[in-house]
Amino acid sequence: MQTIIFIFKIIIFVFVVSTSHGGITSIIDGTPLKVIKDELDGLAFIDQRLSIIYPLIQTFKNTISSDPLNITGSWVGSDICSYRGFYCDNPPDNKTATTIASIDFNGFQLTAPSLDGFLDQLPDLALFHANSNFFSGTISPNIANLPYLYELDISNNLFSGSFPNSILGMNSLSFLDIRFNLFTGSIPPQLFTKDLDILFVNNNNFIQKLADVLGNSHILYLTLANNRFYGPIPRTIAKYLSGLSEILLLNNMLSECLPYELGLLRETVVFDAGNNLLTGPLPFSLGCLKKAEVVNFAGNLLYGMVPEVVCAMGRLVNLSLSDNYFIQLGPICRGLMMKGVLDVRNNCIPGLPSQRPVRECAAFFANRRYCSYMQTYHYLPCWLPHFSDSPMSLSELAPSPF
Ligand SMILES: *[C@@H]1O[C@H](CO)[C@@H](O)[C@H](O)[C@H]1NC(C)=O
Ligand SMILES: *[C@@H]1O[C@H](CO)[C@@H](O)[C@H](O)[C@H]1NC(C)=O
Ligand SMILES: *[C@@H]1O[C@H](CO)[C@@H](O)[C@H](O)[C@H]1NC(C)=O
Repeated sequence: MQTIIFIFKIIIFVFVVSTSHGGITSIIDGTPLKVIKDELDGLAFIDQRLSIIYPLIQTFKNTISSDPLNITGSWVGSDICSYRGFYCDNPPDNKTATTIASIDFNGFQLTAPSLDGFLDQLPDLALFHANSNFFSGTISPNIANLPYLYELDISNNLFSGSFPNSILGMNSLSFLDIRFNLFTGSIPPQLFTKDLDILFVNNNNFIQKLADVLGNSHILYLTLANNRFYGPIPRTIAKYLSGLSEILLLNNMLSECLPYELGLLRETVVFDAGNNLLTGPLPFSLGCLKKAEVVNFAGNLLYGMVPEVVCAMGRLVNLSLSDNYFIQLGPICRGLMMKGVLDVRNNCIPGLPSQRPVRECAAFFANRRYCSYMQTYHYLPCWLPHFSDSPMSLSELAPSPF
């Protein structure tokens, strides 16, 4: 086996040496790159694609100003496939070629001022994961020219500027994670209609009204948390996100009443809209979230009774309604509270411990509060044995607050 590999390497060496001189051109404009040839002297690569990538890596390496884990210590020599963080595979357009198909820099703690000229020049890349580094700058428009890139994770870095619009032109993309960066401005609405499975944009500085069309039916995870999204949760939410498993909207400035359409999110396991400015009652339709396990509306301006059907939803392990203005809790909800699943601290529920001072509740209800579509708050868009069409669901109408 060793011998075979050795012979193979010799053949490759002869092949590369005989073709590499003059054969290497810039993938940007097709002109020969003298620098590349000089740097390649003495090195033999198992594929010409790697010989083109080699100087890109070395140039990028020279821009890295901090490498506490000595990752780049392994970025030497012609065996790029064994560099830490680089993974080779056959590109889709030539099954006998070898190229860098995937990069995983997760947790490498590298510092570099930009990924331009590196990431955007790796034409065969399918995955780029660079969570938890100190990369900064903006994202090059050239990134749209990477035909195979389907997972882009640059989370927990120092990228800034407005949303990289070039991402909209990446046709293969299905996974986008740009959370924990310093992006500002607004996200173009087209991003939410891209054919993505996963979209994480939380913990940036995006400031914008939440788009009316929020995604497509393929999206599974959507996290917009810890930005400054404002406006209502769109009524179209379930139309476009019916397959959604997890939606995190917490710590934004979302306002207005909850749309009853939330109850149509049939696949949702985690729904978190904590710490916003949402108001109105809880729609009964939430009881139809059959798969719900974690639901958080804590820290909003919600009021009225907590509908019993909501406490009976899904397979709840954590229903957090603390820091609102709820005034009433039925027996099912009280049972949930006893089990430690429901948190209703800091509301206005008479007789329960840890509630707001009466004065605070009175001040809140002194203002007239109103939601449009009030009749929808009692719709149950699903069949629930103990709640559908029974006298109980009629008697459960939320009392008008004071
Ligand atoms: C970094 O790694 C390289 C290759 O493994 C090694 O030769 C070098 O001594 C290391 N440098 C430090 C400072 O540890
Ligand atoms: C495929 O890649 C191999 C190895 O780099 C190369 O020798 C061959 O010419 C390529 N085939 C085509 C059709 O480009
Ligand atoms: C329940 O969810 C709330 C809000 O997300 C969180 O603060 C709390 O720690 C969770 N409780 C448990 C027991 O996990």
